[in-house]
Amino acid sequence: MGTTKAMILQILVALLLHSGVIYSYATTYYNFEVVETPYSRLCSNKTIMTVNGQFPGPTIYVTEGETIVVVVANKARQNITIHWHGVKQPRYPWSDGPEYITQCPIRPGTNFSQKIEFSDEIGTLWWHAHSDWSRATVHGAVIIHPKKKDNYPFPVPHAEIPIILGEWWKNDVQEVLSEFLENGGEPNISDAFLINGQPGDLYPCSRKDTLKITVDHGKRYLIRVINAVMNTIMFLKIGGHNVTVVGTDGAYLKPFTSDYIAISPGQTIDFLLLANQKSQNYYMAVGPYSVAGTFDNTTTTALLEYRTTPSTPSPSSPPLPTLPESNNTLASADFTRKLKTLTLENRPINVPLNPSTKLFFTLSMNTLPCPNSTCLGPFGDRFSSSINNLTFDQPNISILEAYYKGINGVYRGDFPGRPPLAFNYTEASVPRELWVPANGTKVRYLDYNSTVEIVFQGTNTVTGVDHPMHLHGYSFYVVGSGFGDFDEKTDPGSYNLVDPPLMNTIAVPVNGWTTIRFRADNPGVWLLHCHLERHLSWGMMMVFITKNGKSPSTQMDPPPPDFPRC
Ligand code: C2O
Ligand code: CU
Repeated sequence: MGTTKAMILQILVALLLHSGVIYSYATTYYNFEVVETPYSRLCSNKTIMTVNGQFPGPTIYVTEGETIVVVVANKARQNITIHWHGVKQPRYPWSDGPEYITQCPIRPGTNFSQKIEFSDEIGTLWWHAHSDWSRATVHGAVIIHPKKKDNYPFPVPHAEIPIILGEWWKNDVQEVLSEFLENGGEPNISDAFLINGQPGDLYPCSRKDTLKITVDHGKRYLIRVINAVMNTIMFLKIGGHNVTVVGTDGAYLKPFTSDYIAISPGQTIDFLLLANQKSQNYYMAVGPYSVAGTFDNTTTTALLEYRTTPSTPSPSSPPLPTLPESNNTLASADFTRKLKTLTLENRPINVPLNPSTKLFFTLSMNTLPCPNSTCLGPFGDRFSSSINNLTFDQPNISILEAYYKGINGVYRGDFPGRPPLAFNYTEASVPRELWVPANGTKVRYLDYNSTVEIVFQGTNTVTGVDHPMHLHGYSFYVVGSGFGDFDEKTDPGSYNLVDPPLMNTIAVPVNGWTTIRFRADNPGVWLLHCHLERHLSWGMMMVFITKNGKSPSTQMDPPPPDFPRC
């Protein structure tokens, strides 16, 4: 083809791309039908929302840097949105998904074609619903392979096994949600945890469906764990085996060995399992880590089975591995502190050294007065939660749409960079007058390409608890963490600015602090929130708006034609 012809063709394609008519020559399309599916677990039946009738939902396999289109058709009776957890969506917040933040819901009977653009993500991420509590059953894995097949910075695994941890209520999850929002107390605790949709051997009516992972002796397996649990950090342990942790949140890690993993809701952990033990059966056990309130303290199991000749039958109930105690804060924090980015030539580590924007965000449980004297929260009040003492009020048109069109009155731009009042955040009993938050729909603007530091400070208002904080649109470096009140004179001395882990969800330890840094190079509207679903429901979220840069390649793209408007 002549150069002019090629150029004309290129311009044509660029125009079509821009208008959203087509996305690229060879884009892969996926169909996501959101449907209501009858499901039976723990000796009882109910109807759940699923994608394509599957629970967990379909796994999306992509190659690093690929762009795909997922056509979401809502055939259920409830609104839905789909979020691509950990996918940065450069300059394109339109497909990000959080309801009333970047879009209005996909209403029953309507469709939305979501363009998903992968950039430097590698390894394991996931997708999930981002409206009400529907993410309990509407979620699935996203697996991003290296460009050259098998080009891993670790021994090539014989096979890859996604493990999705879930949480199950016998009741309808939307009823669980409306009930606790109404009575002001905590949500009803769940009835089981799940591994790939199965509760395992220790719950009623579940044994025969226990997930079996069959391995060959001497082979190496890449296990990709996603914590899709709603309300608790989880411990996972495999009997008789140590594992080698190699990745988290769509990025590689310096490999380290451990006999358990700790993983917070929203997070992913990739590890290698070498099947080099005696050929018999072993349990994989998964249980909660939680220090606050009541929670589901049960254990879910899967079986690791070595393929053996029929003449050597192995016992079907091997010993259960001992998980860390459910209140073992150090077991969670110590594991997380072992995560360090793997140094690779083609994946430079760029930690901002002198952040231009320094933010200090307190994360608090709160109480609000009860409107009718029947509330089940502390002292008869209602639970709430906040960032910098602000409980987020959901708007009824999306912040992205309001920002893009310049609609006034939807949000305010004055989200505070520090809490309104400094106090001893982690003292044993915080005075009750500090328990009550303010509320509002506020965002914080970030200049394009500014370098941002956020110190998250957990507080002991009402009760201290770990908060897995998740940022949309970015990965961030976790440069430090500790217990107690953050000391801005001494604590920065302990920062790791050399090889900190690159993550999108980080558990801020109970009555402690965590510092993250990132470069605001992705213009758009991006949600920051706690990934414990009850805290999100109680308002622990805020929004960043990263402004456009000067050149067109540093500015937000326009919305697609079928964008669900409000
Ligand atoms: Cu995994 Cu805002 O979510
Ligand atoms: Cu939280």
